[in-house]
Amino acid sequence: MKTRMSFLALVVLLTTVSPPAAKGQNESSATGPIARPWWKNAVIYEIYPRSFMDSNGDGIGDLNGITSKLDYLQALGIDAIWITPCFPSPQVDFGYDVSDYVNIDPMYGTLEDFDRLAAEAKKRNIRLILDFVVNHTSDQHPWFIDSRSSRTAVHRDWYIWRDGKGPDEPPNNWQSTFGLSAWSLDLPTKQYYYHYFYPQQPDLNWRNPAVEKAMFDVTRFWYRRGTAGFRLDAVDSLYEDPNLTDDPVLPGKDKFGRPNMEDKYNKKLPEVHQALQRLRAVADEYDAVLIGETWTSNVAQLEEYYGTNGNELQLPMDLMLTNLRLSASEFRDHVKAVDGAKGWPTYVITNHDIRRSYSRYGDGVHDDDIAKMVAGFYLTLRGSAVMYYGEEIGMENHDPITKQEVKDPIGILGWPAEKGRDGERTPMQWNSSVNAGFTTGKPWLPVPASAKTRNVETESKNPNSLLRFYKEVLRLRKTEAALREGTYVPLNETDPNVVSYLRQSKDGTILVVANFSGQAQSPHFDLTKQGFPGAKVTALAKNAAPVADGPLEEVRLEAYGVYIGRVGE
Ligand code: NOJ
Ligand code: CA
Repeated sequence: MKTRMSFLALVVLLTTVSPPAAKGQNESSATGPIARPWWKNAVIYEIYPRSFMDSNGDGIGDLNGITSKLDYLQALGIDAIWITPCFPSPQVDFGYDVSDYVNIDPMYGTLEDFDRLAAEAKKRNIRLILDFVVNHTSDQHPWFIDSRSSRTAVHRDWYIWRDGKGPDEPPNNWQSTFGLSAWSLDLPTKQYYYHYFYPQQPDLNWRNPAVEKAMFDVTRFWYRRGTAGFRLDAVDSLYEDPNLTDDPVLPGKDKFGRPNMEDKYNKKLPEVHQALQRLRAVADEYDAVLIGETWTSNVAQLEEYYGTNGNELQLPMDLMLTNLRLSASEFRDHVKAVDGAKGWPTYVITNHDIRRSYSRYGDGVHDDDIAKMVAGFYLTLRGSAVMYYGEEIGMENHDPITKQEVKDPIGILGWPAEKGRDGERTPMQWNSSVNAGFTTGKPWLPVPASAKTRNVETESKNPNSLLRFYKEVLRLRKTEAALREGTYVPLNETDPNVVSYLRQSKDGTILVVANFSGQAQSPHFDLTKQGFPGAKVTALAKNAAPVADGPLEEVRLEAYGVYIGRVGE
């Protein structure tokens, strides 16, 4: 038994108290819960379509593959799927270089396949979120092909063109986040165009109203086809300083060997927020949700993305969470700040650009316990959650060993300091057959040897598996009102090892205790102040063998144990 709990004595009255009022969300009233938008509390499951399920044996996942796995997703208990870009694309950045915003790339299927996916998802009450690459197109998009054709082309001003400062000198010192300069000289018209990412991803000129209108119409096209909302790619790079002021140079070098820079004049300009407000107005016409790829350095910046009066993004992702070390105090302090911020929290533990959480947090000894603890933690916070495919089975990062294997261009350019993102994008592991049941062909990225045991089929049969734990916690999010509507009440805030909190609503109270340390811990509880002198708890989910439920005084957890219990019965 890896984790053990015990409840020491006590007898006390159970006093009924009113929970603190829900924070600024106005979610309940004297007559019961007020209808809330579906995305509150939703668990949004990110699918990298190349890697989820291949239906036709070409080694690349596709929409029909996703449709074939909807029953699995429904049983898992998620509420929505976010599919990273599946639109026609030269695939330089694996879909984040879109050459047609209103179609499906043939490698992923057809618009009819999309419609079938949408219809089948709807039958299972799973919402569909698409990825909107707002900042840039592919250089093969007809808009850019026209734009680069002449200085007077109709679409010339749809992108950002400038003369160089001098011969062989770009317009300023801005750098692409993917290495090299952010400016490429285009010979036909002898001007430079701007690209924050690869040269094949020219930035759109959002100062041109025609661009904005065309992009807004793209969202309407997909809303009408049953899309419940968008994840917005790279929102903070939408606008650049029109005067092209040089960015400040900082000490040190980056992974590509260039000077470090502060992206002061080409990121997070105030105009971003005005554009998001207009995009939100369009979303509101369709009752759609906007989820932001919002990289921020602090909670105040994250708050800005909700907009004044909540008129920007409903769900700006808290990506800061992915930068935290596995430390009780770091997680506690961060969650307290996000929970106390003005908008609805959206917690993210990993994605297709970040090392998988299983590898990031694993210590090689307690990997599954850590993964269960992290799941029990982020899925019981007040807010929505974004999870990445394979997280529920503990997929590891499977990094390339040699530069020759690398598919992600930043891994080729930055090798070996930057290995690229292939490791976190390997095929979903469905069963223990060859290629983990992902494809009958040659998978576009290799499957790790660990897939033999770490896969959906094997873990489904094992009651102690990570997958079964995920299902249990996801089920609780649906059955426990306190996990939907309760406030977040931190407990034992000076404990250096264990994060504990209540989710407290008028319909119930849930206690969560998560041991962030590699040693057994026995935190004590006194919930008198929270209205529960001498509370009893009943275990709902735990990384532990069954123990008697009873009065709560102490919860005993082995290394990285986690406990979720109902208080007061
Ligand atoms: C963020 C996406 O998540 C990433 O995969 C992509 O390379 C860049 N934006 C550029 O679109
Ligand atoms: Ca395929």
